[in-house]
Amino acid sequence: MNENLLRGGLVRLSVEDPESLAKLVSQWCADSEYSRLLDWDPARRASAKTIQKWFEKQQENNDSHIFAIRVLDDDRVVGEIGLDGIRWTHRDCFVGIGLGDRACWGRGYGTDAMKVILRYAFTELNLHRVTLDVFNYNPRAIRSYEKAGFVHEGRQRGMLLREGRRWDVLYMGILKEEWLAANGQQ
Ligand SMILES: CC(C)(COP(=O)(O)OP(=O)(O)OC[C@H]1O[C@@H](n2cnc3c(N)ncnc32)[C@H](O)[C@@H]1OP(=O)(O)O)[C@@H](O)C(=O)NCCC(=O)NCCS
Repeated sequence: MNENLLRGGLVRLSVEDPESLAKLVSQWCADSEYSRLLDWDPARRASAKTIQKWFEKQQENNDSHIFAIRVLDDDRVVGEIGLDGIRWTHRDCFVGIGLGDRACWGRGYGTDAMKVILRYAFTELNLHRVTLDVFNYNPRAIRSYEKAGFVHEGRQRGMLLREGRRWDVLYMGILKEEWLAANGQQ
């Protein structure tokens, strides 16, 4: 595979062995704020072994591509990003991202990683659309997705109940033609 395909301006996406990535993810998910930004489920600890099994299962499936996010400056793994639920008939999928290392938030790494995986989705996997959901208490993520080219497509009002308050789930998506218009034929 062309290495440049998985390289952005600030980060690169790498494929890690499930055991080492699972150890990191297990540490990141111990941060309940991180879990709540990422997941609908109640924040809870998951062992590295459980996460490893999940990664191994994903690797066997033909409907997902999971990568670690490595900062180009020092090659450290600081997060994960993945295309999931690929439906080859319709050529659509979901994307999810998390920088587990809080010190890395707000430095452009997440937007760069998203741009890289969109290029991979549209030019290598030949997908037609990529979808994501995000909670309306996560303005950093929403802004990052807008910068990467996602458009707002819908909102489930009051879908989440956290600390006695209801929150909306936003849906955002990007089509291949929109990506091409913004990025040119790559
Ligand atoms: C969401 C995430 C991937 C974004 O990546 P990132 O590298 O932090 O984002 P970037 O630095 O590229 O961009 C963040 C943008 O949000 C803006 N922002 C930050 N906090 C904000 C706030 N409270 N309100 C509005 N905008 C905000 C920043 O100013 C920046 O926009 P700008 O470049 O126009 O100034 C990353 O922060 C992360 O992993 N967070 C924890 C887990 C998570 O939320 N995952 C997503 C679940 S849907």
